[in-house]
Amino acid sequence: MELAGKHIVLGVTGGIAAYKAAELVRLLLGEGASVQVVMSEAATHFVTPVTFQALSGKPVFTDQWDPRVANNMAHIDLSRAADVLLVAPASADFLAKLANGLADDLLTTLLLARDCRLLVAPAMNRQMWENPATCRNLATLRDDGIEILGPASGEQACGESGPGRMLEADEIVAAVVAHFQPRLLADKRVLLTAGPTFEAIDPVRGITNLSTGKMGYAIARAAHEAGAEVTLVSGPVSLPCPRGVRRIDVLSALEMHAAVHREVAANDVFIAVAAVADYRPARPVGQKIKKGAQARPPAIELVHNPDILAEIAALPQPPLCVGFAAESENLHAYAESKRRSKRIPLIVGNLIDDGFGGDDNTLILFDEDGQQALARAPKLQLARQLVARIAALLEKRQ
Ligand code: C5P
Repeated sequence: MELAGKHIVLGVTGGIAAYKAAELVRLLLGEGASVQVVMSEAATHFVTPVTFQALSGKPVFTDQWDPRVANNMAHIDLSRAADVLLVAPASADFLAKLANGLADDLLTTLLLARDCRLLVAPAMNRQMWENPATCRNLATLRDDGIEILGPASGEQACGESGPGRMLEADEIVAAVVAHFQPRLLADKRVLLTAGPTFEAIDPVRGITNLSTGKMGYAIARAAHEAGAEVTLVSGPVSLPCPRGVRRIDVLSALEMHAAVHREVAANDVFIAVAAVADYRPARPVGQKIKKGAQARPPAIELVHNPDILAEIAALPQPPLCVGFAAESENLHAYAESKRRSKRIPLIVGNLIDDGFGGDDNTLILFDEDGQQALARAPKLQLARQLVARIAALLEKRQ
């Protein structure tokens, strides 16, 4: 329930993506928000107000002169009640009106009267999106402090392909959730590793581990929500990249090592969450090893992989380095000795039984001031607490 107690006014304007706004209402309610839908007249040609009324449990507003409103000031009442205003889909015509301060219907009027943040998710044909007039309007809206969500690129309802597709409903919900997080890492750059690595034995086989990447991806999302520019160097996992995060895909520890060294300059924070294989086969074979080709099972000689975290921490001017210690026993002793041997200010300990692969976890943060236990919680919530600790350490360093 990421939006419990929040009231969202959702504007729906005229475009075929209006059908996706129905799903958006459902997801917002699922996160605990209350939703008041306001439609432009054009939007009602795509989806009827009855659909949104049934989903939101509230009568939908479409008309500036709605006789239900006793004081005739629906625009003020609606905008004052909102914790955030969201328009999805936002048509090209709507963006043009918004950029120019027009207020010729209920939606544009209540937005002009706003005293809270406004997020808009554009949706239109690719050529309308690329039209210089739309580009000018967008620049004005950004200057006015309006957050533009997307659009995505891909196949469009008109049959063409390109930029202009509205973000999916779950991506818009993630943006609304992010909007309510404190901007603890504004203007900071964060580099992370996440997931397992895969060390090839031959073209189809390799050594890997059971890391799912969930903790690392949750931290990447939390850092982005906190305002950081985030780069995520990810081993092979089956998770979607968090919105707004730049992901670099790698397979082996050596690829992860190279990507981190290439990216690390100018980052304020490096968080090593990946379960990097300690060893790799010394001589991966170019062709698939055939069963029974040798009298005995093949022996695989292993060599050490570089310790990425220790190397980054040993740079002349390292970013603030954070490590992870997943242990099956003696967590306190192992985590603290790892922190000292790798010379890093903060290490995050967790017992493998507590959270490996799952959606919840229990963490203990070890730094030079001692330890702080984070009670069992979903990984995203723990990630936000970790981000707050990192922000405090960054402040202390300055
Ligand atoms: O030494 P150990 O593997 O237990 O340390 C775990 C921490 O070090 C994790 O933060 C992990 O991401 C990082 N690490 C690394 N490169 C390695 C091994 C571990 O960055 N080769």
